[in-house]
Amino acid sequence: MTILVTGATGMVGRHVVAELVKTGHRVRALTRTPSAASLPDGVEVVGGDLTDPPSLEPSLNGVEKMYLFPVGRTARELVTVAKRAGVRRIVVLSGALADTDDSEDGYLAVERAVEDSGLEWTHVRPGEFAANWLDWAPSIKEGRVVRRPYGAAVTQPTHEADVAAVAATVLIEDGHAGRTYTLAGPEALTTVAQVHAIGTAIGATVRFEELDPAAARAEWIGNGYPEKFVDWIFTMWAESARDPAPTNQEWAGIVPRLTGRPARTFAQWATDHAAEFL
Ligand SMILES: NC(=O)c1ccc[n+]([C@@H]2O[C@H](COP(=O)([O-])OP(=O)(O)OC[C@H]3O[C@@H](n4cnc5c(N)ncnc54)[C@H](OP(=O)(O)O)[C@@H]3O)[C@@H](O)[C@H]2O)c1
Repeated sequence: MTILVTGATGMVGRHVVAELVKTGHRVRALTRTPSAASLPDGVEVVGGDLTDPPSLEPSLNGVEKMYLFPVGRTARELVTVAKRAGVRRIVVLSGALADTDDSEDGYLAVERAVEDSGLEWTHVRPGEFAANWLDWAPSIKEGRVVRRPYGAAVTQPTHEADVAAVAATVLIEDGHAGRTYTLAGPEALTTVAQVHAIGTAIGATVRFEELDPAAARAEWIGNGYPEKFVDWIFTMWAESARDPAPTNQEWAGIVPRLTGRPARTFAQWATDHAAEFL
């Protein structure tokens, strides 16, 4: 039985591959550039582009289960190609905010395409990735500082390895068909606390410098971030700084419940990625 992992070279996908290899499964890994994949020995690396579903046909030969990196616009055609090839279970990498994005390229488009296929499906909806803060690496490297608005905003960062552990579990085990698992890390933390945790991991003091939101908004848009995205995320942070949510225990409980292991803390994530901040 072969499991196809799309997005296999990604933050989450690499861990999905590793989990499946560790448990003795036959893994085929999809990437647009096989020569650069650098995946473990024993993994069959194949080329294909999720925006061009027919390009996956050769990769789907003999595949029973599939981890699907979300590409909304072509999801429906891709699922048709997969079903025709004999795939019977698809695990979707989605997102905790799936319900807020109904666009043709959003997570819901992928989820619905898979649900409508009649195949076994499970949606893995992670909250914010701790890895988003790799954005801070340049300023931490250069000046041991993070400059941001809303230092008091609270998020519940999720370790990519935990997202992958849940995805691998539901690929391997039966009993998860038709389920949507929304998950996050074990603790809600302010941005300032997360900056300090990275400082601890690299053995240095990292300062947090609070930026004026209006100035930060103009800077982000100037740096090429879409205005709609900046307004959305700044509004979320502003609300959270004003009224910080406690840890969402339901989301925090998914990793231990499904994998039998505690969810990784942000401190653990920072230690795992310390080299990228040095
Ligand atoms: N950031 C967050 O807070 C957050 C929260 C919830 C959900 N998510 C979801 O998680 C995703 C990121 O996952 P990740 O961190 O594992 O990925 P990632 O590190 O951003 O890597 C992207 C992966 O997708 C593959 N890929 C992208 N476009 C492709 C295409 N057209 N055809 C084939 N492969 C393609 C890439 O493969 P190659 O380049 O090798 O072809 C690579 O393996 C986001 O895109 C989002 O959907 C993110």
